[in-house]
Amino acid sequence: MASKNGSTKTKTRPAATGNATVIEGLNARLADLIDLHWQLKQAHWNVTGPNFIAVHELFDEQATAVRAMADTVAERVRALQAAAEGTVRYAVERSTLDDFPSGLVDWEQAITQLVDRYEQCSAQFQSASDVAAEADDKATEDLYVEMIRQIDQFAYFLRAHAK
Ligand SMILES: [Fe+2]
Repeated sequence: MASKNGSTKTKTRPAATGNATVIEGLNARLADLIDLHWQLKQAHWNVTGPNFIAVHELFDEQATAVRAMADTVAERVRALQAAAEGTVRYAVERSTLDDFPSGLVDWEQAITQLVDRYEQCSAQFQSASDVAAEADDKATEDLYVEMIRQIDQFAYFLRAHAK
């Protein structure tokens, strides 16, 4: 359509608003990522064994990356004009992940536990990406798909440390 000065008006897309199921899914995945971040920290602090330094540092690197993923998910909720729910208490209520064992943990057991958590996360993100696809929310679906790649890569980095 031509405007008064004769230029062609570019098509616009209003800021997206989220479908309630997509928002709920994003906040649930935010809870999983907050939980996973602190499980990685728990492992970073309490791991023991001959590979201590390598896995201690790897767990911390992954914790930092997972924390950044939580931030991205929370900000996607805000971009969809809803409220991000990211306190530790929300995370405790909503996380779908199994808990990390308390106390000191042998490095191989820590890796086994964390690989399992990544696999749980990967499955949850896969289902959430299907929900976003059904709602035709391509940007949220893309965010999930990118995170599945990252989660699967982190699981592989951990598995590669074990025998
Ligand atoms: Fe540290």
